[in-house]
Amino acid sequence: MRVLVTGGAGFIGSHLTAALLDAGHAVTVLDDLSTGKRANLPGAEERLRLVVGDVADQAALEEALAGQDAFVHLAAVASVEASVRDPVGTHRTNLEASVRLFDLAARLGVKRALYASSAAVYGDNPALPLGEEAEKRPLTPYAADKLAGEHYLAHFHRAGHLDATAFRFFNVFGPRQDPASPYSGVISVFLDRARRGAPITLFGDGEQTRDFVYVQDVVRALVAALARPGQTPPELPVFNVGRGAEVSLLELLAAIERLPGVRTPLSVSSAPPRQGDIRRSVADVSRLRATGWEPRTGLEAGLAATLG
Ligand code: NAD
Ligand code: UD1
Repeated sequence: MRVLVTGGAGFIGSHLTAALLDAGHAVTVLDDLSTGKRANLPGAEERLRLVVGDVADQAALEEALAGQDAFVHLAAVASVEASVRDPVGTHRTNLEASVRLFDLAARLGVKRALYASSAAVYGDNPALPLGEEAEKRPLTPYAADKLAGEHYLAHFHRAGHLDATAFRFFNVFGPRQDPASPYSGVISVFLDRARRGAPITLFGDGEQTRDFVYVQDVVRALVAALARPGQTPPELPVFNVGRGAEVSLLELLAAIERLPGVRTPLSVSSAPPRQGDIRRSVADVSRLRATGWEPRTGLEAGLAATLG
């Protein structure tokens, strides 16, 4: 299969690209290298093509999408905090580009589509664990754009123009998640600082929870979905992707402190909670499990593999 992976030079995208190449597919990556890196991708590989460009740019989209059998749309500004600070800029990437991509794919006949949505769409819904039917309460521009992206995708799916599946990733972690920015995923930041003995900042009281899922478990869900025959309209299939385990940041810090190679005691200071930060989050993953998928990597093993 010829597959376009938008955001394929990023954290999740680079793992997905490697897995698709291993499975024998030909992969085109469209990435502007804003947070992704060329070095995340395998070097000399005939079946891999990198198009450096903006996913909101029509010409770049046309170049990358022509001749594909499927696309996996991962390109986005992944930081919730960045969307709070720059709602206009992040909206262009996180929603406008998605609508352009879906529309162009429909016109080019690239029907098979996978979309990276987020647990953020549930906001502070207290109905834990969160099933896919739980009420959506987006609290941030990031969450609003991800949810709107699902609605647009559902439109193209219902119309029969795309054969699409949406995935609501919970908090994904693993190697190559870039800790460089203050907006990076919490595990990448905490591990990087723990390794260097640098100070860690905890936003809020540390009792907020997340469902941390290892990147290879996410990748297996995506690769399997591409291999499955598509579903017919009307309803857009939507799957949570988590581990189904609720972990507080204080528990995360304790798990990091137990890892070999970490400088203990960790130096942790507190700062006020982030605006729009979700208090508790954990997935009901029974729908994805019913397809034969299950998470294989627990938190401790995943943290050790990430630390390297
Ligand atoms: P990432 O920042 O590593 O990957 C995003 C990639 O998209 C990067 O390579 C970046 O360079 C690229 N990109 C950003 N803007 C672009 C643009 N305008 N044009 C082209 N490329 C652009 O983040 P990630 O964690 O790998 O996230 C991948 C996807 O999964 C995103 O859609 C994110 O919202 C979603 N997601 C991630 C998590 C998580 O916990 N990491 C959870 C839920 C959803
Ligand atoms: C993350 C993802 C987002 C995804 C969502 C799904 C990133 C950057 N964000 O958002 O793409 O859609 O999960 O649930 O991958 N924190 C600290 N100190 C730090 C950094 C973070 O205390 O130095 C706290 C935050 O305030 C928050 C928690 O850690 O309470 C998680 O933050 P973060 O990793 O940014 O993730 P989410 O906002 O959950």
